[in-house]
Amino acid sequence: MIRLLPLAVYVSLAFGLPASQSSASNNSYDISVLSPTSSIPGTTPPSTEAPTSTAASSTVQTAGPTPSFTPNKTTVEDLWAQVEKNKPVLVAAESNLTDSTELKLPPAPHAFFPNYLSERTKILKFPKGFKYGVASAATQVEGAAKEDGKGPSVWDYGPHVYPDLYTGAPDVTNDFYHRYKNDFARLKAMGVNTFSLSIAWTRIYPLGRGEVNEAGLAFYDKVIDEAIKNNLEPVVTLFHWDTPLALSVQYGSWMSPKVIDDYNQYAETVFRRLGDRVKMWITFNEPRVFCSQVAVIPYTLTYPDGTNSTNAPYQCTHNLLVAHGTAVQTYRKLVKEGTIAAGQIGLKNDDNKPTPWSDSEEDKEASDRHADFFVGIFAKPIYVDGDYPATCKETLGDILPPLTPEEQKLVKGSADFYAQDLYRVNTAKAAPNGIEACKKNSSDPNWPTCQDNRVEYTSGAPGGWGYGQQADPRVNWLVNSWFALRDQLKYLTKTFPSKGGIYISEFGWAEAFENQRTELYQIVSDYGRESYYMDYLNEFLLAIHEDSIDLRGIFAWSLYDNFEWQSGLTQKFGLQYVNFTDPALPRYFKRSFFSMRDSMKHHLEPEDFNS
Ligand SMILES: *[C@@H]1O[C@H](CO)[C@@H](O)[C@H](O)[C@H]1NC(C)=O
Ligand SMILES: *[C@@H]1O[C@H](CO)[C@@H](O)[C@H](O)[C@H]1NC(C)=O
Ligand SMILES: *[C@@H]1O[C@H](CO)[C@@H](O)[C@H](O)[C@H]1NC(C)=O
Ligand SMILES: *[C@@H]1O[C@H](CO)[C@@H](O)[C@H](O)[C@H]1NC(C)=O
Ligand SMILES: *[C@@H]1O[C@H](CO)[C@@H](O)[C@H](O)[C@H]1NC(C)=O
Ligand SMILES: *[C@@H]1O[C@H](CO)[C@@H](O)[C@H](O)[C@H]1NC(C)=O
Repeated sequence: MIRLLPLAVYVSLAFGLPASQSSASNNSYDISVLSPTSSIPGTTPPSTEAPTSTAASSTVQTAGPTPSFTPNKTTVEDLWAQVEKNKPVLVAAESNLTDSTELKLPPAPHAFFPNYLSERTKILKFPKGFKYGVASAATQVEGAAKEDGKGPSVWDYGPHVYPDLYTGAPDVTNDFYHRYKNDFARLKAMGVNTFSLSIAWTRIYPLGRGEVNEAGLAFYDKVIDEAIKNNLEPVVTLFHWDTPLALSVQYGSWMSPKVIDDYNQYAETVFRRLGDRVKMWITFNEPRVFCSQVAVIPYTLTYPDGTNSTNAPYQCTHNLLVAHGTAVQTYRKLVKEGTIAAGQIGLKNDDNKPTPWSDSEEDKEASDRHADFFVGIFAKPIYVDGDYPATCKETLGDILPPLTPEEQKLVKGSADFYAQDLYRVNTAKAAPNGIEACKKNSSDPNWPTCQDNRVEYTSGAPGGWGYGQQADPRVNWLVNSWFALRDQLKYLTKTFPSKGGIYISEFGWAEAFENQRTELYQIVSDYGRESYYMDYLNEFLLAIHEDSIDLRGIFAWSLYDNFEWQSGLTQKFGLQYVNFTDPALPRYFKRSFFSMRDSMKHHLEPEDFNS
């Protein structure tokens, strides 16, 4: 079932892929490994060994049709016709859930969660006002890909035009677009008080810029109102990877500085429309994962002059940071002049500072370098001093476009809180040939981090052990590393201090082999996910009470199984199961849903538990 994905190879390496990704090397690639992202939910991109890059980039550039686009002439319909040339966009079956908020809870499962109430954590509470949320993303849950004037994003184009490289398209997925009312009723039943969603840029600007689509804004108006009606505080992400196809074909989107103005215009339109009700904003989801993939399909349709697969991730890094700073400036201006309500804005970082493999100076350095390339490259400019980590500048040289003094000023301080998608902590071991030799050689398979990228050294531990309980094998970067969380939170809050505190903007579990289970009772008995969540909640409580970490909220990924990018519907991260083979797309609560509900009810102040 798993297809060969030659493109995996190209993912560039340049960004220092975690080991997880580096495991699939031979001629077959598990498509899920490939998935962009840590999987997407917090994930990490695919990778493999070092790129044979020239071949790779040329393959990417010539791998099939590039849509044509004539400025001021190409319409949304023209673009959709190109997307649908081989495979039309599907639409969801009519559902009786569309407007229904009716909900029947099954009997609660036999107890498992109370065993987690150790003497130590039993009496601990999350602070008053704590955000207990779940997270989602437009492409992954909405469906209704072509409805109400939406334009195509690169995630509509790729899966339709290169179906062999994907596991399905996000045409329908969870059909959140029509069923959000019922979905919110289900979240309320879990006591959740916050809901994190993303806006689809192409619902607002079908061509990425130019004319606004009122129907798109009206849809998010309704969603925000319904969330508030259910006591779910909306947290809105402006960009969760769904680049407008039009901007990719016109100028290479994130690889070109032209994207900055277009993104800012889009952001301003959304701030003005929803800014009376939304008080917490995220400009970008996991920019590091996103930029590591801009040189692969579906993102790469056009390279601007001077850009190739090696430098593309860093052009993206630069443009995205400046776009973030610009949008934050716009937001603060609108708040200051009283156009929209006061609130807070930031972005979602990802990955982690890995645990050094040993006490050796080289392994500690490998861990520091990993943190610089995976977290600091975005977080240091924003939270510290406006500039990239010295390791990144030194190793990458000209490949990393410098931030000018004006850009540094714009970016520094451009976040009101710190947010991290913290699925796990990994380990880091120095490259076998040594960090010094590796960092001078951009062809070295471990360049630029110069940690040993083999999976046994990133998700393993000395002595031939795994570092923690492993998730589904398709998501080999994910380990239940509860024991490393408190140190991780100390590192993040000390290194990237923020007056607005820290949020765990995503965390979650891909239950091993869940996709192979056929009986409903097996699917919903997700003991691994339940353990993961209970372990993490305990550590979060201890971090708050024993380490004085200013943790203000946590967001579970995700409310239900959904479209996990290249893994399609096969990779499961949900607190609810969705039967995608049934056109009615019925949702079922898993055990983890009840444990989260009961545990949070126990640990939250009563007024913070939604009921
Ligand atoms: C790759 O192939 C080599 C030699 O055939 C084999 O030893 C290794 O286990 C394979 N690796 C993977 C990830 O399949
Ligand atoms: C990519 O462009 C850089 C210049 O920024 C150049 O040094 C490098 O050789 C190019 N790499 C490839 C694979 O073409
Ligand atoms: C397209 O229209 C914009 C204004 O709507 C104009 O500034 C631009 O010059 C036009 N481009 C072309 C190629 O005609
Ligand atoms: C929706 O339809 C299904 C299947 O016909 C039925 O079992 C269910 O009760 C209906 N739900 C509502 C809310 O009407
Ligand atoms: C750089 O790394 C490549 C790939 O491992 C290797 O073939 C090459 O010999 C290295 N170059 C130097 C100067 O060490
Ligand atoms: C999912 O739906 C299909 C089609 O209705 C049904 O045959 C199958 O048994 C369902 N699977 C589960 C686990 O409920």
